[in-house]
Amino acid sequence: MATKRQSVHGQWSSRWAFVLAATGSAVGLGNIWKFPYIAGENGGGAFVLVYLVCICLIGVPIMMAEIMLGRRGRQNPVMTMETLAKEEGRSTHWRLLGLMGVLAGFFILSYYSVIAGWALSYIFQSASGAFVGSSAETVGKIFGDLVSTPETLLLWHTLFMVMTMLVVARGVRSGLEKAVTWLMPGLFLILVLLVGYAMAEGSFAEGVNFLFSADFSKLNWGSVLIAMGHAFFTLSLGMGAIMIYGSYLPEKVSIAKTSFMVAAADTTVALLAGLAIFPIVFVNDLAPGSGPGLVFQTLPIAFGQMPGGLIVGTLFFVMLVFAAWSSSISLIEPAVTWLVEKKTMTRGKACVVSGIATWLLGIVTVLSFNKWSFEFTFAGHKKTEGLFDMLDILTANIMLPLGGLLIAIFAGWQMAKTSSIDELGMESTDLSYRMWRFLVRYVTPVAVIIIMLKAIGIL
Ligand code: PHE
Repeated sequence: MATKRQSVHGQWSSRWAFVLAATGSAVGLGNIWKFPYIAGENGGGAFVLVYLVCICLIGVPIMMAEIMLGRRGRQNPVMTMETLAKEEGRSTHWRLLGLMGVLAGFFILSYYSVIAGWALSYIFQSASGAFVGSSAETVGKIFGDLVSTPETLLLWHTLFMVMTMLVVARGVRSGLEKAVTWLMPGLFLILVLLVGYAMAEGSFAEGVNFLFSADFSKLNWGSVLIAMGHAFFTLSLGMGAIMIYGSYLPEKVSIAKTSFMVAAADTTVALLAGLAIFPIVFVNDLAPGSGPGLVFQTLPIAFGQMPGGLIVGTLFFVMLVFAAWSSSISLIEPAVTWLVEKKTMTRGKACVVSGIATWLLGIVTVLSFNKWSFEFTFAGHKKTEGLFDMLDILTANIMLPLGGLLIAIFAGWQMAKTSSIDELGMESTDLSYRMWRFLVRYVTPVAVIIIMLKAIGIL
């Protein structure tokens, strides 16, 4: 068989290393920063339900497909798609799918790094005691001051980009593999602690009600698109991050099982974050739909009031930075491997080139929160952060679902059944294989197409 290639970048040391790295990629700002604020903007319950359905019916099957393609191709997403398409006797234009992924990762990282920079600066705010005993207004002012000062934002953005590129330059295996092993459980523990605080001191029932009681009258096709886009974003799907991680996956590891584990861990963290945040929102009379600042304006109130909050708060932002860090490396890894394999750069040079490009684009986001901010409406919601919001909508709600759609079509329709059976390590009669194939061939593509067309008003 022509398939048993090896990646020039090496392999994960075990299947657990892969699960941790993929979970590290999936769990990030998407879960703790983005999920709560978009759930808030889109009315809660019904939105959360659509998001959960998307994770199960679209997210898990596409994650399996993406890992499968990555492991079979064992190269950067562009060349993986080209190689596999050739092997299956299909058009080599499939490489454009990989190229769109590389581009999406670069776009996402440009704003992701700015937000991760907020978290970095909050480590110092928290450690210096800025939140101790402070009211919702004081916390709001600290956040307002941060985002209205471009120089400060630029500084933290620069620092985070340097951190990211330093890790990527060393190769993913050394360092990160180990760091994630204790950081993810640590983050999880602190979240549980915060949920405990929210239960004791917040309007917990109101928070639960907001997150889980579905009022479908608040839902429009725009919010359904946002929920689906977020399912892609939070699982790191549709742009080759999971594909490139799959390319380092040892043979024989079960792709189905690992996909389930990653999706379950990711969803749990998002729901816990919601349960920690909304009770605090309601007890302090804050607005659930207050946008990207939500987490930064709610949790510090809790930290300021709980005993030991200075330490818990500082640790929380350290963990948040680590969660963002283990995601950011996977956002740029497809671009870096592409520069190495296709443009024959050294890894170091590829990191400098892609890092500088991303840093430059990040300036757009830095200015979106202050000098360049402008308003527009999307899916019935007022967006106030101009180009940042646009980049977010372009990537999460257009590029990732489109990438996911094409991955599903390739895996379900373009690839021979024998190839996917071989790579997934299943039997054609296995119920799980048949379910996967049915979802990838019919459910996923149809759902993505309908949601996208409905959202732009064509259907
Ligand atoms: N999944 C990450 C998060 O939720 C973001 C991400 C998207 C990472 C796409 C890689 C690829 O924060």
